[in-house]
Amino acid sequence: MCGIVGAVAQRNVVPILLEGLQRLEYRGYDSAGLVVVHDAKLERVRSTGRVAELTVKSTTTHGLIGIAHTRWATHGVPSERNAHPHLSKDHIAVVHNGIIENYEELRTRLTAEGYEFTSDTDTEVIAHLIHSHYARGNSLLTATQASLAELVGAYAIGVIASDNPDQMVCARRGSPLLLGVGNKEHFVASDVSALLPVTRKVVYLEEGDVVELGRLDYRIFDAAGKLAKRAVVISELSNESVQLGEYSHYMQKEIHEQPQALADTLESVCNSQSLVPGIFGAQAAATFADINGILILACGTSHHAGLVARFWLEEIAGIPCNVEIASEYRYRTSVPNPKTLVVVISQSGETADTQAALNHAKGLGHIHTLAICNVPESALVRLCKLRLLTRAGPEIGVASTKAFTTQLAALFLLTLVLAKQRGRLTAQQEQQHLHELRHLPSAVQKVLELEPQIAKLSKKFAKKHHALFLGRGLHYPIALEGALKLKEISYIHAEAYPAGELKHGPLALVDKDMPVISVAPNDALLEKLKSNLQEVRARGGELYVFADADTHIHAADGIHIMQMPEHAGYLSPILHTIPLQLLAYYVALQKGTDVDKPRNLAKSVTVE
Ligand code: M6R
Repeated sequence: MCGIVGAVAQRNVVPILLEGLQRLEYRGYDSAGLVVVHDAKLERVRSTGRVAELTVKSTTTHGLIGIAHTRWATHGVPSERNAHPHLSKDHIAVVHNGIIENYEELRTRLTAEGYEFTSDTDTEVIAHLIHSHYARGNSLLTATQASLAELVGAYAIGVIASDNPDQMVCARRGSPLLLGVGNKEHFVASDVSALLPVTRKVVYLEEGDVVELGRLDYRIFDAAGKLAKRAVVISELSNESVQLGEYSHYMQKEIHEQPQALADTLESVCNSQSLVPGIFGAQAAATFADINGILILACGTSHHAGLVARFWLEEIAGIPCNVEIASEYRYRTSVPNPKTLVVVISQSGETADTQAALNHAKGLGHIHTLAICNVPESALVRLCKLRLLTRAGPEIGVASTKAFTTQLAALFLLTLVLAKQRGRLTAQQEQQHLHELRHLPSAVQKVLELEPQIAKLSKKFAKKHHALFLGRGLHYPIALEGALKLKEISYIHAEAYPAGELKHGPLALVDKDMPVISVAPNDALLEKLKSNLQEVRARGGELYVFADADTHIHAADGIHIMQMPEHAGYLSPILHTIPLQLLAYYVALQKGTDVDKPRNLAKSVTVE
C-alpha cells in the first residue's frame, strides 16, 4: 500500500527519497511523486509509472529537505493529478497514507473558503487545511496539529512548507510511520527498509504522535499534545535481507527462505527440552489458565493459517476455536465470551481490518489477546497482551509465502503449549512433537527439490482461465491458500473446495479444460479423497495431485502426480503448502505477470 519517505539533511535528499521509494515498491503502488524545497519554492515531480520513471524525471531536482510517496489508489483513479505530494497554494506540501473519512465535508468547507482542488483525493484536504492554519501565522507544527484535530480517519503524513527549508512535520494515527536518526540529518518513512541505506537507528512513532523534525534534532508530541520521549532502536533488519541476490523474484527467494525462516521461528523451542508458555510473554501462563476458547481474527493468507490452526487446537489441545475474517467480524454482532483468547495473525502487523477487529473484540470486553506477527514493532504487536513473533525476515513479494508457513509453525507451538497446560500431552508426545519440529526445516528443504518438476508442470497452465483446488480436513485451508496464490499472481480464476463438496455444485464446472489440483496427504481422509478424485476423472477433468509417497495414487492418462518426499503428520499442511506456492510462481512466469507486484494489490493493506 502507499509508502512515505522524507528527509531533512545537509545534502541533496532526492537520491535518498528515490532509493527509499524504490525499497517501498513491494508494498504496491500505481503512481509516485516527490517534492523538495529549493530557493524558497516547492519543486514537485510526479509520475504514473514506476519509481524508475520518477528517477528519470527528477534528474535536475535538488533540495535539502523533501518528502516522497508511492500511491495505491483509494480516492480517485491512478493518475498524475492524483499522485502525491499534494500542494496547497504552492506553499504547503503533504504526503499521506490512510483514508480521511470526513474529506467530503472538509472539501466543501475549504472550497467555500476559496481553496481550489486539483485532485480527487482525500489527501488534498489535509494540504489545504494545514495551509489555512499556517496562513494565520501558526508554526508548521501548530498548523498541522490544529488540522489533525479536524480529521476523522487514518493517516501517516509528512508535511513541508516552501518558506521553511529547515523543518518537516510528520504524524501518525492508524498508519505506520517511523523516524530515522542520522548524523545531523533526520528521516521519516512508513517502513524501515526504506531507510536502511542511510540509517539503522529508528524511532517507532506511537498512535497520535506528531513530530517536528530538523537536521539537528526532533521533538515528538503525543496524542495529548505533550512532549514525549520514544526509544531509539537499532533495526535488526540488514540491508542484504531486502536484496534479491541470486533469485529472479522476491517470491522465489522467499519460498526458498522457508527452511531458515522456520528454523529461526522455532529456534528457542527446538533448542530446549520442553515447551513453556513463557514464549508467548510473561503473562501467558496465567492467561492460558483463564481461557476456555479461542477466537482467531485475520485476513487473506493469515486467515488460512488460522483455519489450519483450528484443527490443531480442537484436536490436540481440545479447546474450542472460531476463526473469523477480520473485515467481517468487525461489523458482525457477536456474542463475546470473556474467557476467550483472541489471536490476531498478521505478517505486517498493520492490516487495518485486523486492527479494527482486534479493537472491536476489546470493545466487547475481550481482555486476553495474542498477536502472531512478523513485524516486532507493529501496531498489532503493541495492541496485544501476548505475542509470538514469527522470524521470517522481511517479506517483500506481495504473495505471502514464508510468512504463512512460519505462522503455521507458531500456531502449532500455541497448540502444543495449550495442550500441555491442559494435561493433554504426555511427556513422550511432547518429545515426539519437538523432534518433528526440529526436523521440519529439512523436510521443507526436501520438498523444495520438486521445483524443476513443478516448473515443467506449470506449462500446462499457461492457457488456462480457471482452476479448482481440492483438499480435505487439515488440508482444505491449504487448498484455499493454493487457490489464493494462483489467482493473486497469475490472474487465473481459482477456487478451492473441500473435496466432499464437489458433488454439491462445483462438479458442474469440471470438463477437460478445468485443471483440478488436489492436496493428497496420507491421512485418515485419503480414501474419501480418492473417491472424490475419481468423480473428477470420470467427468474428464485433468488432475494434478500432490500426493504423499505412500498414498498409492498413480499417474495415468489425465492424472499427473507430484510425489511429496514424506508425510509429516500434523505438520503436513506446512509441507503441502510449498509445491502450491511454487506452482503459482511458475504459472505466473508462464503468464508473464509482475510476480512480486501483482496488479491492484498491495503488500500491507493499511486501509479498510
Ligand atoms: O499482513 P497480513 O498478514 O495481515 O496481511 C493479510 C493479507 O492481506 C495477506 O495475507 C494477503 O492475503 C496476501 N497478499 C496473500 O498472499
